[in-house]
Amino acid sequence: MKATTISIVPASAEDAASVRPIISGIYARAFRRPPWNEEWSDEEAWDAIEAKMDRGADLFLAIDEDGEQIVGLGLGIVLTDDYPDIGDLTRFGLAPGSYYCIDMAVCQSHQRRGIGGQLLEARERRARELGVPAIGMRTRPDNTPCVACYTHRGYSHTGTYQVVTGHVESPRAVHVKQL
Ligand SMILES: CC(C)(COP(=O)(O)OP(=O)(O)OC[C@H]1O[C@@H](n2cnc3c(N)ncnc32)[C@H](O)[C@@H]1OP(=O)(O)O)[C@@H](O)C(=O)NCCC(=O)NCCS
Repeated sequence: MKATTISIVPASAEDAASVRPIISGIYARAFRRPPWNEEWSDEEAWDAIEAKMDRGADLFLAIDEDGEQIVGLGLGIVLTDDYPDIGDLTRFGLAPGSYYCIDMAVCQSHQRRGIGGQLLEARERRARELGVPAIGMRTRPDNTPCVACYTHRGYSHTGTYQVVTGHVESPRAVHVKQL
């Protein structure tokens, strides 16, 4: 496996707009593949990223310095009372005021090189700077690389609940770490 120098950098909404096709493509391709198998166009991916940033989410980009390309992204936000699904998130340890790792995606060509872990650590540093009491995420329980990323860094599984996307019901496991 090729050694790669990766930098994780925070990005503003303007930065995101300037690399829109790249990050939309990374996001859409990641969620079109297993275990998600969801139908994402690049346009829909951009709308999802933009909507989260409009809510105040932080965006971190993973840059492959050798290849001079963006190879991953992570989004995180401090939860508020009106955040979607806040009732379920609160029930499993992510109350308003906690830091929520909304999404992350790494290009398939660059997966399993520790970039997901670095994107998580960048968001943990941000959460600590903000002085929030807890950080966590939710994902499908069968999303092995994602779950590994969190459990290997001391996150605890606090519960699993069902969500409905479209007409399909599927489980989401919540993982939380106290800061
Ligand atoms: C989840 C995702 C971002 C992880 O990215 P990555 O750069 O490959 O992650 P890492 O290389 O840092 O690996 C994270 C951990 O999972 C483990 N891991 C990675 N892939 C694995 C696999 N297929 N099976 C088992 N363990 C795996 C690694 O050993 C690593 O453990 P460590 O942190 O103790 O070293 C990437 O798989 C992805 O983009 N998936 C699709 C989108 C997605 O599901 N995002 C999360 C939504 S909530």
